[in-house]
Amino acid sequence: MAILLLLLSITVSVSAKPDTFKPPDNYLIDCGSSSQTTLPDRRTFSSDSTSSQYLQYHGRQINLADQSADLPLPIYKSAKVFDSKATYSFHVSKTGWHWIRLHFFPVKNKEFKLQETKFTVIAGETLVLLHEYTPKGIEMREYLTNVTTPNLNIMFSGEKDSPAFVNAIEVVSAPDMVITEHIDALFPVGKKIDGITKFSFQKMYRLNVGGVVIGPGNDTLGRNWDSDQKFLKPQSAAKNISIAPNVVTYLEGGSPLIAPPTVYASAVEMGTSDIIAPNFNVTWQFDLDHSYPYLIRLHFCDIVSKSLNELYFNVYVGGKIAISALDLSTVTNGLSVAYYKDLFVEPSMVSSPFLIQVGPLNEPMGTKNAILNGVEILRVNNSVNSLDGEFGADGRSAMGPSRGTVAAVGFAMMFGAFAGLGAMAVKWQKRPQDWQKKNSFSSWLLPLHAGDASFLASSKTSLGSKKSAFHSSTMGLGRYLSFAELQEATKNWDSNSVIGVGGFGNVYLGVLEDGTKDQGKTEEGSNGTSSTLANGAPLAPAVDNRPVTTPSHNPAEVQVIEDHSGTAMFAHPANLNGR
Ligand SMILES: *[C@@H]1O[C@H](CO)[C@@H](O)[C@H](O)[C@H]1NC(C)=O
Ligand SMILES: *[C@@H]1O[C@H](CO)[C@@H](O)[C@H](O)[C@H]1NC(C)=O
Ligand SMILES: *[C@@H]1O[C@H](CO)[C@@H](O)[C@H](O)[C@H]1NC(C)=O
Ligand SMILES: *[C@@H]1O[C@H](CO)[C@@H](O)[C@H](O)[C@H]1NC(C)=O
Ligand SMILES: *[C@@H]1O[C@H](CO)[C@@H](O)[C@H](O)[C@H]1NC(C)=O
Repeated sequence: MAILLLLLSITVSVSAKPDTFKPPDNYLIDCGSSSQTTLPDRRTFSSDSTSSQYLQYHGRQINLADQSADLPLPIYKSAKVFDSKATYSFHVSKTGWHWIRLHFFPVKNKEFKLQETKFTVIAGETLVLLHEYTPKGIEMREYLTNVTTPNLNIMFSGEKDSPAFVNAIEVVSAPDMVITEHIDALFPVGKKIDGITKFSFQKMYRLNVGGVVIGPGNDTLGRNWDSDQKFLKPQSAAKNISIAPNVVTYLEGGSPLIAPPTVYASAVEMGTSDIIAPNFNVTWQFDLDHSYPYLIRLHFCDIVSKSLNELYFNVYVGGKIAISALDLSTVTNGLSVAYYKDLFVEPSMVSSPFLIQVGPLNEPMGTKNAILNGVEILRVNNSVNSLDGEFGADGRSAMGPSRGTVAAVGFAMMFGAFAGLGAMAVKWQKRPQDWQKKNSFSSWLLPLHAGDASFLASSKTSLGSKKSAFHSSTMGLGRYLSFAELQEATKNWDSNSVIGVGGFGNVYLGVLEDGTKDQGKTEEGSNGTSSTLANGAPLAPAVDNRPVTTPSHNPAEVQVIEDHSGTAMFAHPANLNGR
């Protein structure tokens, strides 16, 4: 009886907190369906033919349906296909955080190969959600963005031979407290990241550690929580532990809206916490694209201790200490109390694989154990407001000049350098007989750098005015090459070193090789976007068919760069791939 009363009072105190949220905006649309659809979790999606006020579209729109398919949710049985641009527009009754959830499944049909199409989705005019995206199977993408406009537009960029499609759309308000204004950086310790409310997020992982899958119907904000089992490496290092969810309490100011009691009621602890002095980490491994920042949210709740001040442990994120000697008893002043910690991880801190680890302290304090109850990993938009790829909605690239432009400049430079070398070689053969007496290399090379029209001189202006587009510190000004340098680089104009014949003469191997080798030094800071040759020398990124920003300079202009070594003649294109 006493236990029953106790449980009852705990339940009452929990429900007295702001643990429910009625979203002011709650659009659930089953695209391409002729009637509304109710899911097993009791959410009802309305048809976008009855709710066509949301859809602004002037091309052909096709409803596809595959009623026979054995799909987990009925919303995947129908899709809307667009062969030109189409915009869903949702009236926003209260500005602030909103979930956008997009559901995809390439419905079988005779007319379109939806498994092969590629399309882009943009929200609110500037936020790139998906870029050249091809949904392979059932895929749900979830985003969180602060909507500050009276309408939220979601644009699908379909084309005739590459139509866009979508099976269902959710646009649902989230409470203000779902993400706070300032967040601690993982590194350097003590740094705060501001302006979080201007960032948009994409859910990458959301795990109920040590527990069961939680569906939208059992979450306080319609979220999905997966099991952590397949991320645990090795699984033997960990042990599940759980309590009844109704025992979990929240701090003053905390809320089940951050995560429901079921998340905190289960955890993983050290697999052998009962042996005398276990000393290892429990490790979860994730795949993350290191071109974005991430927000990592860790959920803790001491459901293992028998009394206060027994449990102290370390938390590591990306191999860095994230929380040193976490003492849940002190931060929560109780057992089974929910606690969470957000950390902002810069792209440079994103390793592959990305590890989240908990492990015991080295000091003889408390029991040797460590726990984790939940993890969320949210991708943060990059500098051009994209969550998918380096290109912004306006075609700007997060990498500075677009790759296409860089490659074009690179090819132009290489060609120019070959041509220049060839010209020199030709001139060398036609050199005046008395040039050695004059002791002047430039006597035969003179016309190349004599006037403003020469490529050495023009490179100065082109570099000077465009320098900001490139980050390389090696971008110096043109200089003259000594004869010895040229002679050595071309193996004394050895015809065996000829690797090609250009319009001006032969192209020599030696100079090219030296030029590329030396660029290795300046590669740090580039994040793997440039390819490398087998011998480690960086290679120009491939030209691709992504949107290309207009080159602001003449790509035919040749740029000659001074290198530390004194042998390189021209900048390697990969070097221009700065940010
Ligand atoms: C959303 O952004 C606006 C403008 O930056 C800001 O005033 C508002 O506080 C933000 N909303 C939330 C919930 O943080
Ligand atoms: C831990 O719990 C999860 C979810 O219920 C389950 O899939 C897994 O098998 C459990 N692990 C162990 C070691 O019992
Ligand atoms: C909610 O949880 C209960 C109990 O675990 C389960 O029976 C039910 O199927 C879940 N509902 C949804 C919609 O996930
Ligand atoms: C736990 O992981 C961290 C970070 O990867 C590492 O520095 C530490 O040595 C590990 N601890 C143990 C006991 O292996
Ligand atoms: C995300 O996009 C917003 C809006 O363009 C921008 O202010 C913010 O700096 C971007 N975030 C990052 C981490 O670059």
